[in-house]
Amino acid sequence: MTESQFTPRVFSGIQPSGGLTLGNYLGAIKRFVDMQNAGDFETIYCMVDLHAITVWQDPEKLRHNTRELAAGFIASGISPEKSILINQSQVPEHAQLAWIFNCVARMGWMGRMTQWKDKAGKNAEAASLGLFGYPALMAADILIYHATHVPVGEDQKQHLELTRDIATKFNHDYGVDFFPLTEPVIEGAATRVMSLRDGSKKMSKSDPSDASRINMTDDADAIAKKIRKAKTDPDALPSEVAGLKDRPEARNLVNIYAALSDQSVEDVLREVGGQQFGTFKPALAELAVAKLAPISTEMARLMDDVGEIDKLLAKGAEQAREITAPILKRTYEIVGMVGA
Ligand code: AQP
Repeated sequence: MTESQFTPRVFSGIQPSGGLTLGNYLGAIKRFVDMQNAGDFETIYCMVDLHAITVWQDPEKLRHNTRELAAGFIASGISPEKSILINQSQVPEHAQLAWIFNCVARMGWMGRMTQWKDKAGKNAEAASLGLFGYPALMAADILIYHATHVPVGEDQKQHLELTRDIATKFNHDYGVDFFPLTEPVIEGAATRVMSLRDGSKKMSKSDPSDASRINMTDDADAIAKKIRKAKTDPDALPSEVAGLKDRPEARNLVNIYAALSDQSVEDVLREVGGQQFGTFKPALAELAVAKLAPISTEMARLMDDVGEIDKLLAKGAEQAREITAPILKRTYEIVGMVGA
């Protein structure tokens, strides 16, 4: 099979390891919606609950976060009619293919992953084996659909490269052209939204400081307060991109403004260049509230009926398995499993 024979198909996922952040929204979900609506691809979007448990998750919270994430996807514009919406554990072929990939990937590849180094830190001995193997499961999530494109934030680029390495090694070792070399799609003004407290750290749902992030469930007052208190420098905003050099906090707020208003950073700076943060921050807060409040209101409405969310996810899993079951069966045949 040559690459052109693969169905143009998008897969991406988010961990239900906490509430959604503005980073997840701008770096991932907003792009998921664009790709769904462009109609150039089949689109599959996933709550990666098996990834979430690579670090400890309280079971009740995990169930809640998974449903809330589904509500976040739908409230942001993912349509269960146009896309397949699933939680990972309900489509068992993800984990089954991950085992095969655990046997393809090399320890050295995993050990070089920045996310592993960041999350395991100095205490790697105490980290779970799942956290180490995380990128093999991620490769399986993508390749069990023969996905050709994956929209992600900048932080996931290295894992996408590893996915290509796994596909290449599998195809080479077994003498087949079975898995595609998936393309990452990292685009837009906010591929890396940074913490509001530290412009060198990415905004993350598991950051211990709630002030470091905007949660999709924050109300207007909380959003305005967090933006007002966001770390900045004393200078006015520049009118050209070069003026943001060595000003990570200023650059972050401008990027967020650009992504929320669907403008380029250049256009935003033409508009706000010369402004002090005392003027820019309230404008940013107003824009963020205008864009996020309808989503959080809709999320809350959807969460009033979790039975309906569960039904949608069960239906999504059925649709997904029409794609994943034959790909797993063929993989087992290639590998030499009897009965496949
Ligand atoms: N700060 C960010 N800027 C841009 N994109 C981001 N993404 C995450 N943070 C940012 C993108 O969101 C998608 C889902 O990420 P994930 O939940 O699977 O894992 P993550 O990247 O590890 O996200 P978090 O929020 O930092 O989660 P925790 O704290 O649990 O590790 C990906 O496409 C990611 O690029």
